Amino acid sequence: MRGRFITLEGPEGAGKTVLAKQLVAELERRGREVVSTREPGGTRLGERLRSILLSQRADEGAAPIDPRADALLFNAARAQLVAEVIRPALERGAIVVCARFTDSTLAYQGYGAGLPVEQLRAVAAVATGGLVPDLTVLLDVPPTVGLGRKRGASRNRFEASFDLAFHERVRAGFLALAAAEPVRFRVIDSSRPIEAVAGDVIAAVLAAL
Ligand code: TMP
Repeated sequence: MRGRFITLEGPEGAGKTVLAKQLVAELERRGREVVSTREPGGTRLGERLRSILLSQRADEGAAPIDPRADALLFNAARAQLVAEVIRPALERGAIVVCARFTDSTLAYQGYGAGLPVEQLRAVAAVATGGLVPDLTVLLDVPPTVGLGRKRGASRNRFEASFDLAFHERVRAGFLALAAAEPVRFRVIDSSRPIEAVAGDVIAAVLAAL
């Protein structure tokens, strides 16, 4: 495939959405075709799964969603996104910028919720047909800082219903994934003001392209 696949990862409140926008604007300014998307979501099916997965009250009174069901639903959204958006864009030579991808399942359902990481890798390989990002920018932020950036009704199910220890495991998980694959990952301290973080993200991506 001719394009480049870049993912932004990190715990809650790391600034992925804002930083993705700034990165895409900078790449477009340089004349590149950029496709910007996110997980879960990015397709009609994916956005419907997103509302099920992230709503704090998708089905009030129902039992909590089991982590294995979470893992499979996130991967269902991922499979559709890869087939419908990401692969076609890469095949025509575009840069794809995606907020979250397989590493989020490994960090949240693996390190956070305790499912075996190697099983999750296998499920994700089925969903993605083995597609792995060329570059993954890990926006690292302590959960106390990240969660403090989001409040009340704007919090998703993970932010509202999972405790601080869960989010600490997620953060440590991301850092472990980055340490295991230093060529693919760049770790950026995202507890700093957003302008400083944006400069580092753009520099990391331009250096890798
Ligand atoms: P966000 O779009 O605000 O980052 O919200 C996505 C939420 O879903 C976030 O809490 C992380 C969670 N998530 C998982 O638990 N597993 C996954 O595979 C993905 C993509 C997201």
